[in-house]
Amino acid sequence: MVTQPHRPPSIKMVRGDITEQTVDAIVNAANSSLLGGGGVDGAIHRKGGPQILTECRALRAAQYGRGLPTGQAVATTAGRLPARWVIHTVGPVFSPTEDRSALLAACHTNALHVADTLGAATLAFPAISTGIYRWPLANAAPIAIAAVLDTPTDVQEVRFVLYDEQAYETFAQTWQEWKQ
Ligand code: APR
Repeated sequence: MVTQPHRPPSIKMVRGDITEQTVDAIVNAANSSLLGGGGVDGAIHRKGGPQILTECRALRAAQYGRGLPTGQAVATTAGRLPARWVIHTVGPVFSPTEDRSALLAACHTNALHVADTLGAATLAFPAISTGIYRWPLANAAPIAIAAVLDTPTDVQEVRFVLYDEQAYETFAQTWQEWKQ
């Protein structure tokens, strides 16, 4: 059987709010409790409404009694958001002494795998771990981009949705240099 050559998704860098993206699925930079938080997690729950939390609680009760492990990903519907699904993943907290880049990459790889199970064609990522989890943007950007390019997936379009100017500039610059 001839296997299809792995064609990576198109990658776009977007300055904006991930809760406003009209894509099939958006990725949430959650914490292992899956019960909400600040940053993009807070925005998604606030704008998406209580349905998302209800489904997160059900996931905790059914499968993740001890919380979602770092690097893994699960899906809920998206409540009132324009997207159809939210894929919750737990990024690693940055450590200056321990290299956790494989876990940050895993967030992207596993989110793509979950997107494939959903049949999502378009997917939006925030800059996972670069806020409260303090991962330096310039270090996170190439890890995130490489993970997306290296993961065989049926997703056709991946958007990195960067909320502030510094994150946008860093990711866009990294992607620009990557393409050269
Ligand atoms: N749309 C897109 N990106 C956003 C939005 C938004 N509405 N709000 C914040 N961001 C950006 C931040 O500016 C940062 O670049 O998302 C990136 C990730 O930051 P955090 O949301 O703080 O996530 P993270 O660093 O992964 O920390 C996760 O924070 O919110 C809590 O419950 C969450 O405990 C978990 C921790």
